[in-house]
Amino acid sequence: MPTTPDIPGLFVVQHPLVQHKLALLRDRNTPTKIFKELVDEIAMLMAYEATANLTLEPYPVETPLETTIGQRVAGKKLVLVPILRAGLGMVEGILRLIPSARVGHVGLYRDHDTLQPVDYYFKVPADAAEREFFVLDPMLATGGSAIAAIAKLKKAGATRIRFLCLVAAPKGVLRVREAHPDVPILAAALDRELNDVGYILPGLGDAGDRLFGTR
Ligand code: PRP
Ligand code: URA
Repeated sequence: MPTTPDIPGLFVVQHPLVQHKLALLRDRNTPTKIFKELVDEIAMLMAYEATANLTLEPYPVETPLETTIGQRVAGKKLVLVPILRAGLGMVEGILRLIPSARVGHVGLYRDHDTLQPVDYYFKVPADAAEREFFVLDPMLATGGSAIAAIAKLKKAGATRIRFLCLVAAPKGVLRVREAHPDVPILAAALDRELNDVGYILPGLGDAGDRLFGTR
């Protein structure tokens, strides 16, 4: 299970496979193809943790021999919401675990000078109030993008939201928790700090550029 460090509402996944893969992801020499595969695999492992408390409901199942009672996840299909672009790298891995999940999209990029999120796309299922949402973004730096994405989901009616990221900075985590105290954050690492241009240290660089080879 994830540990709870000093920040309430932040859960860091300490699973050895996650930590092993994260170190490879941080390595500047990891090529785009491997980087993409690692993001995919870590996202899947994190989704396993993030879904540990989903509600189950019993239903009858016919085995080849008799009828038994099986369990299935109750309620409407959950919704994965990647923050474009880098969040896209986390979608497929989670869909392999939860193939019936819906996928919404939030288009945001961080202005290089102001570090403020700039909004360009938003599409999620219409019945947002009845669903559980996983917002996906490998990086939680100043928190601006996460705060804006969650606010847009809430405006659309969402009330049950979790934020899944790979690397988080303390400043960003505190800002998100202050703006959205009802939203738990699951991360693979809580890093030291941000540098003076808003990059996470030690971090892994620009996640979008490393995923899509646009450096
Ligand atoms: C990166 C990252 C987050 C954001 C985090 O995206 O994927 O969305 O920065 O920074 P913040 O916490 O300070 O808002 P970027 O803006 O580089 O866009 P991209 O994914 O399209 O490259
Ligand atoms: N966005 C990234 O991709 N990396 C960082 O370190 C900070 C924001």
